[in-house]
Amino acid sequence: MGKTAWLTTKAGFDEVAIVEETSSCRTLTIKSGAKSGQTMTIPPSGRPHGDFHPALYVADKQPDVFRHKGRSLRVLDVAEFPNLEQAAALVPAIEPYTFLPHTSKLIDGIIAGDHQLLFGGTGVGKTSLVLQIAARIGQPVIRLNFNGQVSVSDLVGSVGFGKNGTVWNDGALPRAMRNGFWIVLDEIDFAAPEILSIFILCLRLLRHSASRNTTAKS
Ligand SMILES: Nc1ncnc2c1ncn2[C@@H]1O[C@H](COP(=O)(O)OP(=O)(O)O)[C@@H](O)[C@H]1O
Ligand SMILES: [Mg+2]
Repeated sequence: MGKTAWLTTKAGFDEVAIVEETSSCRTLTIKSGAKSGQTMTIPPSGRPHGDFHPALYVADKQPDVFRHKGRSLRVLDVAEFPNLEQAAALVPAIEPYTFLPHTSKLIDGIIAGDHQLLFGGTGVGKTSLVLQIAARIGQPVIRLNFNGQVSVSDLVGSVGFGKNGTVWNDGALPRAMRNGFWIVLDEIDFAAPEILSIFILCLRLLRHSASRNTTAKS
């Protein structure tokens, strides 16, 4: 029997075993409930499950999840972020917060591991939506507000002086990347050109490494 995993249902979870996993699909056998013994296939990991497919979580015990319109995201354990105290904050939940229907688009992007651009008028709920999803799943977030004061060294890092000579201090972007934090680039339309050029470079590098990974896998 394959690895134990949990498949979301409308009410909770079905315990399943993963029989086979390829780059195009995962084959499962259901181990509990009314469908016990049935085999099913679902899309591969990292593909948004959306309205059509349940989500699958590989774990010995049933995971906690945040659910919205057929989608779900696993609630993270604080122990998954050993450097939490130095770099980012866990976001407090606002109660009540209304997760409007477009939340599902953001969740699909999160599952796919995509960068997301939210645009709209002031106060429509762009920043709070990201932060409130993070709050519900225990995802640490670094938030930078481009109010004209953010410098390249705030973002990338700077050389400082330590006991043994010069040291490199990571800025917000490498801190987020090294630790698995989200980074919210608030009011990015007010960022200076030298800051925007860094993001363009990062996106090029990420695209390059993604295409190298695909080539290496295929
Ligand atoms: N769906 C919502 N439910 C509850 N409060 C909300 C919602 N959307 C926005 N708010 C509140 O409205 C205020 C402005 O939202 P914010 O996310 O900062 O807007 P934006 O980033 O688009 O300018 C915040 O205090 C936020 O908590
Ligand atoms: Mg905002």
